[in-house]
Amino acid sequence: VTLQTNYPGHDRQYRLRREAGQSGWDTADGIAATLTELAREFDSPHTPKSGDLLEMGCGAGDLSLFLASRGYNVTGVDISPFAIEWAREKTAEAGIQASFHVGDVRDLAAFADASFDLVLDGQCLHCIIGEEDRTAFLRSAYRVLRPGGVLHLRTMCGDPRTPGLQDGFDAETRCQIRGSVAVRYVGYPDVIAHEVEAAGFEIREQRILRTTGEDMLILDAVKGAPQ
Ligand SMILES: C[S@@+](CC[C@H](N)C(=O)[O-])C[C@H]1O[C@@H](n2cnc3c(N)ncnc32)[C@H](O)[C@@H]1O
Repeated sequence: VTLQTNYPGHDRQYRLRREAGQSGWDTADGIAATLTELAREFDSPHTPKSGDLLEMGCGAGDLSLFLASRGYNVTGVDISPFAIEWAREKTAEAGIQASFHVGDVRDLAAFADASFDLVLDGQCLHCIIGEEDRTAFLRSAYRVLRPGGVLHLRTMCGDPRTPGLQDGFDAETRCQIRGSVAVRYVGYPDVIAHEVEAAGFEIREQRILRTTGEDMLILDAVKGAPQ
């Protein structure tokens, strides 16, 4: 089965969410909870404590701005021009340095090989559907990392727990289908870990974070130094 996708459709979602008074992709409370988790995850000995960081699927920039305030040199990329404009506004308001680009995580075309120390999956990989696109995501993350650089994944996994994800979830493809479009992929942790290794990474640490929402796979993987 070839599943239909609509990645640019996220742009409309951001417009609607901003009109509805939301703080970003998530509510203010949701963002605060994610940032608390992220801070804990970044305490891991496997996570570089400084350097050049790229957030894939940064949206309105909430995770990126938090990490920039902790001293990383942050770049964010997202397919939604509306979200990127929103992220730039927030950056200016906060008086923080970070740069945001419109682009596709499947090629990261604007970024040179080996230009980041840390790549954060900004809860974007679970939006990427099908083997070809998911491989493209992971291989572009690998390409832009320096040898020894780290990929930090935060991606939904396992069986859907909330009505928001159960609605339209197809157990066979493990995708949530809206209309005729596959909007989320929620794989089992071992399957996702296998995809990461197939893209060339060495996994350093993985665990499942049980939240009030969906289970999240938190995984750190390294781009090995050239032999
Ligand atoms: C669940 S949102 C998370 C946003 C933000 N990182 C956060 O945690 O608040 C996933 C993001 O991935 C972006 N995205 C989806 N497909 C993409 C693609 N092919 N290229 C770039 N960004 C994409 C969406 O626009 C959306 O901003």
